[in-house]
Amino acid sequence: MSTVSLFVNEAIAMLQKVTEMEVGELTKLLETPPSVEMGDLAFPCFVLAKSWRRAPQQIAAELCSRISEHPDYAHIHVTAAGAYVNMYWDRTISSTALLERIADQQHYQLQVGGGQRIIIDMSSPNIAKPFGVGHLRSTVIGAALYRMYRAAGYEALRVNHIGDWGTQFGKQITAHLRWSDPLQMEQNPIGEALRVYIKFHDEAAEHPELEDEARDWFRKLESGDPQALELWRYFVDVSMASLDRMYERLGVEFDAVLGESFYNDKMPAVVDRLRELDLLEESDGALVVRLDEQDMPPCLIIKSDGTTIYPTRDLATAIYRKEVMHGDRLVYVVGGEQALHFRQVFAVLRKMGYSWAEDCIHVPFGLMKVNGKKMSTRKGKVIFLEEVLDEAVQQAARIIEEKNPSLPDKQEVARQVGVGAIIFNDLKNNRQNEIDFSLEEAVSFEGETGPYVQYAYARIQSILRRVEQNNESAEQPTGEEVAQQSASEAVEPSDSSAAVEEPSGWTDTAWELLCHLAGYDSELERAVRLHEPSIMARYALQTARLFNQFYSHNRILDCPPAWREQRLQLSRQTGEYLARLMELLGMQAPQQM
Ligand code: ARG
Repeated sequence: MSTVSLFVNEAIAMLQKVTEMEVGELTKLLETPPSVEMGDLAFPCFVLAKSWRRAPQQIAAELCSRISEHPDYAHIHVTAAGAYVNMYWDRTISSTALLERIADQQHYQLQVGGGQRIIIDMSSPNIAKPFGVGHLRSTVIGAALYRMYRAAGYEALRVNHIGDWGTQFGKQITAHLRWSDPLQMEQNPIGEALRVYIKFHDEAAEHPELEDEARDWFRKLESGDPQALELWRYFVDVSMASLDRMYERLGVEFDAVLGESFYNDKMPAVVDRLRELDLLEESDGALVVRLDEQDMPPCLIIKSDGTTIYPTRDLATAIYRKEVMHGDRLVYVVGGEQALHFRQVFAVLRKMGYSWAEDCIHVPFGLMKVNGKKMSTRKGKVIFLEEVLDEAVQQAARIIEEKNPSLPDKQEVARQVGVGAIIFNDLKNNRQNEIDFSLEEAVSFEGETGPYVQYAYARIQSILRRVEQNNESAEQPTGEEVAQQSASEAVEPSDSSAAVEEPSGWTDTAWELLCHLAGYDSELERAVRLHEPSIMARYALQTARLFNQFYSHNRILDCPPAWREQRLQLSRQTGEYLARLMELLGMQAPQQM
């Protein structure tokens, strides 16, 4: 269960009165019990044993009696369980405040960002290469962070730092001139460009002179040779067209698309500045900035053949984002394998006297492997994202066909589910973890998947539709809902036992769902602070799970009117939060599936 700040604040104030401990310490000690039966919050008494010179169990009992006697806390029921004080909020009294809280816009539109501008470097694939599952991660994580930052009160800008410059273009041009088939180049430029690019690496292993030829072409490109430029432009154009198709399918947009080449005319000033500051040193004919004090290898600025390199472009880029785009924070959503690169770039910025280097943040993520294997363009081991998306949609369509063949608009729903599944699969694990991609698992309607979350949402919509249409004659779930009910959850709705224990209608499962939703703001705040979309993805899964649990243990429509109203309200709010969460993560939310 996520923490409900309302409870935490109240518990701290209360414990302060009865223990005289500091707020900070109490905050650290408060725990959320593993299940609601054990309370909404728990306080362990071990730390007090020394100063109170008593056993923690006795202290727990003593605190309970002090709290019970306190006139302000009649609505918090406490019990001593061993060394713990378990706290239970009165559900009838507190539910009103919680329901109000979750309906309040401030609960999901936070103000922590204070309007600061965050510039997000995301996606940033390399031109003339297929967009593989690897670059998918930066795109999907970046897009989720963008919406999370905004929901937290930041202003955010998405920048696609296309890799459209660098020695690989020398290789691409060399390979193209030697081996490209003109007809293929017309029909399938990306595929043909990839074929010859791979061939280049195979051939260069035996004919190293090819590398010299490639270097020559890149040097020509950097010095503005018209033929080189024309070929380069061509590769950029065909690649961008195919990238745009991909972004459209994923529903990802950018506020600026500025390739590395955009910084070509901005690099000389950076090199001059480094020279003025006496930071450049020669090393084997190349120019570097030494970073010995930081225990890092030197940062390469100009290669021995006089051409610029990746870090030089990133220095110019950062300065541009700060000085021209007025970014307060520069966030880079780039794979963990580039950690050293960014540490070096940030260190050089610091040496140049830019105090804002502290506001540059590398947000790394782990490798995506497919069936346990690492991908590499050079070796021709790539998976085309386009194909992955097609397959995911097909699989979603097969599942829908099996579960709900009469669903209207099946194709569109399959598209939303298939694409959503791929996106969710990428976001659900801590971003630094390596992920092993399995299509089968990602698109499954059960387990920790996007479709599972979408399903819960669709189920809620179907209940609400029935209420609207006044077609609630039978509480029995519709065929659609039965299809949605997994075996483990297939429990007959029943309140008989709950009615005795909870005259308010707030059964454990209903209460747990309500408290979970009330914890949304603190989870979002944490997710933004840690730049971690997985926190929201897991929160969405838990929301879906808790709703399914609530739904299988409680009658929503066919129950006393007071309960019915609050349960409908709870269901409606759960739907709202699921929709909001899917939107944060970049998924669509079908009304039926
Ligand atoms: N194009 C680079 C790559 O695929 C990633 C660029 C990341 N952004 C940056 N500012 N360096 O490796």
